[in-house]
This record gives sequence, structure tokens and C-alpha cells, in this order.
Amino acid sequence: MWAAFMGVDLFRAWSAATGLLLVLFLMLHLGGVVMAPFAPASFEIYAAALHQSAWLPFAEFAFLAAAFIHLALSLAKLIVNRRTGNRAALVSRRGDRLAVLAARSQAIGGLILLGFLVVHLLQLRWPRPAAGEELIALRALLAQPANVALYLLAAVAVSLHVFHGGEAAHRSLGLLDPVNGFRIRRVFRMLALLLGGGFSVVALLVSASALQMGQ
Ligand code: HEM
Repeated sequence: MWAAFMGVDLFRAWSAATGLLLVLFLMLHLGGVVMAPFAPASFEIYAAALHQSAWLPFAEFAFLAAAFIHLALSLAKLIVNRRTGNRAALVSRRGDRLAVLAARSQAIGGLILLGFLVVHLLQLRWPRPAAGEELIALRALLAQPANVALYLLAAVAVSLHVFHGGEAAHRSLGLLDPVNGFRIRRVFRMLALLLGGGFSVVALLVSASALQMGQ
């Protein structure tokens, strides 16, 4: 009913645009948290400055809105595709096992990320650590193996989601053509590796430093 009202193309376009916005957030987020293991003092200064900035509530609202729209429209698109028997995205590029895995894991990966996000925000955002205690909170968290496993799972899910989603989003927005297709695929595969690898390395190094300090 919603699909008939809004049109499946509009679903796809908004789902794609909000997905690309979330990738931008993830790049910025990784750029911030990567300081935690490599430059702890700078990380605290960055976190304190971020929390004091007047624009942060607007950025947080924009992120939440984009995440909610992306989730709702992606789910709607999935339901419409299943009903109409359209499984084209799931069987493309059969020879490329990673691409097939990434395509097939889109829905489950999205749900894993949603679950991770709820836990992650309850751990680090509500309540927010006091100024100067961001790294202490992060180390206390990642001293627990269950949390390290969760953060690594989220990193893998992010990586697979971006691996497939980046190209799919450009196709949904009508921006993919035979000339730029290869470049867009390569850029998003590199981004997927960067995000997945980056978040994994940060989680593992912060965990190692927490264990070293006996937290
Ligand atoms: C090693 C992996 C990660 C680490 C160490 C990490 C660390 C943090 C920290 C310290 C904060 C608190 C920032 C603040 O006080 O504002 C935070 C917030 C947040 N993180 Fe992560 N994060 C990781 C991965 C992720 C991933 C994979 C996602 C998304 C799927 C994510 C989404 C968010 C969101 C939405 C916020 C709230 C931002 C805000 O409202 O200010 N994080 N993260």
C-alpha cells in the first residue's frame, strides 16, 4: 500500500541517499575514534570539543533521522521485492563470492547493526562519559571479551553492508553506468575494507591497552 502510494523508485532513492549519508557519518566517526589508540590525549581533546559544539545536537538529530528513514525504507523495499519475487540483487555476480555474500547479508547485516547501535549508544552515549573520561569508559568497555566480539561483529557487518550497499545505492539513484560502474565498485570496496578494518583495529588496540593497564 505504501509502495503504491510513494512508488518503489522513491523508496529506493531515499533508502540509497540516506545509506550514503550514513557511510559519510561512519567515515567521520572512524576518523575520530582512530585517535583513541594512537593519540589518546588528542582523542580526549577532540571528544571534549565535539561535546561542546553547538551544532552537535543538529548533527545527532540528522543522523538519527537518516538511520530511521534508511531502516524503514530498506525494510519496505525488501518486503516489496519478496512479494513481487524480485531477487535480482541477490543473484548478481555469482562468480564473485564476496559480492554474493555481501548482497545476501544485507538484511541480516542491517539488523545486526541496528542491534549493535542500540547497545553502543546505551554504553557510550546515554549516559555520556564526563569530559576527560571518554577513553577510560571505552577501555573499561573493551576490557570485556563479549564487547570486543560485539564490536568486531559490527565491523564485519559494516564492511559487508558498505561493500554491497555503495554500488547498489548508486544504481538506485540512477548514477551507475557502464563507464563509472567499475570505479564506483572499486571505491566502495576500498571504503568497506577501510571501515571494517579500521573499526576492528581500533577495538582490538583499545582492548589490548585496557588489558595492559589492568582495567
Ligand atoms: C571500534 C569501533 C567503535 C568505537 C571505538 C566507537 C566509539 C564511540 C564513542 C567513544 C562514542 C561516543 C562519542 C560521544 O561521546 O559523542 C560513539 C558514539 C557513537 N557511535 Fe561509535 N564507535 C565504534 C563503532 C561504531 C559503529 C560501527 C557505528 C555505527 C554502526 C557507531 C555509531 C555511533 C553513533 C551513532 C554514536 C553517537 C554519536 C553521537 O550521538 O554523538 N559506532 N562511538
